[in-house]
Amino acid sequence: MKVLVATEKPFAKVAVDGIREVVEKAGYELALLEKYTDKAQLLDAVKDADALIIRSDKVDAEVLDAAKALKIVVRAGAGYDNIDLEAATAHKVVAMNTPGQNSNAVAELALGLMVMAVRNMYNGTSGTELKGKKLGIHAFGNVGRNVARIAKGFGMECYAYDAYCPDEVMLKDDVKPVHSAEELYSACDVISLHIPATAETKQSINKALVGRMPKGGLLVNTARKEVINEEELIALMQERADIKYVTDIMPEADAKFRTLFEGRYFATPKKMGAQTAEANINAGIAAANQIVDFFVNGNTRFQVNK
Ligand code: 3PG
Repeated sequence: MKVLVATEKPFAKVAVDGIREVVEKAGYELALLEKYTDKAQLLDAVKDADALIIRSDKVDAEVLDAAKALKIVVRAGAGYDNIDLEAATAHKVVAMNTPGQNSNAVAELALGLMVMAVRNMYNGTSGTELKGKKLGIHAFGNVGRNVARIAKGFGMECYAYDAYCPDEVMLKDDVKPVHSAEELYSACDVISLHIPATAETKQSINKALVGRMPKGGLLVNTARKEVINEEELIALMQERADIKYVTDIMPEADAKFRTLFEGRYFATPKKMGAQTAEANINAGIAAANQIVDFFVNGNTRFQVNK
């Protein structure tokens, strides 16, 4: 049995060691394809893999066609918009994620981006503080919950909107539930995005919505670039010189944002949210364990293509 770890953006070495230990203890073989630059390399490496561990690596019909022996693909992380789920089902491949395993890392980065933005990108001028500001958490899943926990330590007042999360869950975490995205954006000084990229959410963060934010509004994106309507956000930021946008997922129009909004726009060169040793260990080892549990016990608890 061969388990391939295919990561264009590699895990920390300590996480790979942990994955290897789980895989070899089960009597399987581990293969590594790291920092690949060409899809052809992935197509070649998956040929004889029975199981595949990925991060944001794209697994589409072509990859699944090439992976003749593949039974399971695990996205070591939360968002699985990089896997063609229909194609996986058609190829009789089980697709899973590892929810919650990297959420603290992403949440810490979201707060880091907030501090950076309210301190004017560390340019030496006087900024503002997060204490006492209203934070709107857009989607209250694993990352959103961690953001609330940390933001409360900063003395922020937390609000959240999540159509799929009951009020009680938010109230238990001392977070005020609101019942529409419009209400959230109107109320909050800072918005932190934690929605997945789905047909419903793509391009949904638009001019009308962000335009509701009060003066000095800060939008923080550690979710997906696809949820932003980039042209509309640019138009809004041109109209409103008070709005700032900081993101861990470089927009398609990065060059335009950079030129037009110097000092109130920042994008990490590569998505860094889950890029910690701890998150890599948690998500990578969870993925390896889920694969072993699937082969040994048929456990499909984290399957996402049912
Ligand atoms: C996730 O969905 O888990 C995060 O976006 C992290 O993605 P990464 O593994 O590519 O860093």
